[in-house]
Amino acid sequence: MAIPSSSNTATISSVSALPTYMHEVYEWAYLNPRNVGILDNEIVVSTILWGNYKRLKQVVLDEIKPNMSVLQVAHVYGSLIPEMARCLNEDGKFELIDISPLQITVADKKLGNLPNVTTRIADATNLNDEHHDLVNCFFLLHEIPDDYKRRVVDTLLSKIKPDGTLIIVDYHKPHRLNPVKPIMRFIFHWFEPFAKELWEHDIQDYATNPDQYSWHKETIFGGLYQKLIVKRKPET
Ligand SMILES: C[S@@+](CC[C@H](N)C(=O)[O-])C[C@H]1O[C@@H](n2cnc3c(N)ncnc32)[C@H](O)[C@@H]1O
Repeated sequence: MAIPSSSNTATISSVSALPTYMHEVYEWAYLNPRNVGILDNEIVVSTILWGNYKRLKQVVLDEIKPNMSVLQVAHVYGSLIPEMARCLNEDGKFELIDISPLQITVADKKLGNLPNVTTRIADATNLNDEHHDLVNCFFLLHEIPDDYKRRVVDTLLSKIKPDGTLIIVDYHKPHRLNPVKPIMRFIFHWFEPFAKELWEHDIQDYATNPDQYSWHKETIFGGLYQKLIVKRKPET
């Protein structure tokens, strides 16, 4: 069942004017150069993810074949981005988009001179006409308001090739007895105001036409994280 549009008023705007949530909630994490230098670190990310970064990265890397055209939706701190690009051969293509110019600069440094790599500033709700074998969305959805989630999910689904794959890795409602659940509830309350929505909704409910796709979900670490593999159903 698709989630009906709410009155959430996230400002969808041009890239030069970032969405309001980027300034109001995530300025410190993604727009402040000093903090970015501290946060973009394997140990920091691994700590934030309760030691699961390596495992969650592998979930993505396992989906990449060397000749694929891969779209990475938003920069990710730590080593995931260059590791993804290194999986590709000369027939493969890696494109990364991010809404923040600073994040693109940081990604460019990490990607160095790797071949067949492009990066550009773009909003995940407003991408170009290209279609990809693999689209990866890693811990972006929990950081954006519900209306934005819906637009991003629809946009990403529209960017996979007919036999392509969308992979989404993000938070999920932990099992009742997961000991980190109360801590995550506290963190979400104070720092991640849009994350708890992923405890309340299946990601496929954000899609306008979920029935056109197959959705395969696996949960990780007592249900706290989810890996979602989405493919277009063959037309009948
Ligand atoms: C992928 S998410 C969270 C990743 C995770 N917290 C990490 O370790 O980096 C963070 C990125 O999403 C970007 N972002 C936020 N909203 C976006 C949007 N609408 N379109 C594209 N990028 C966006 C931010 O600029 C930031 O670089």
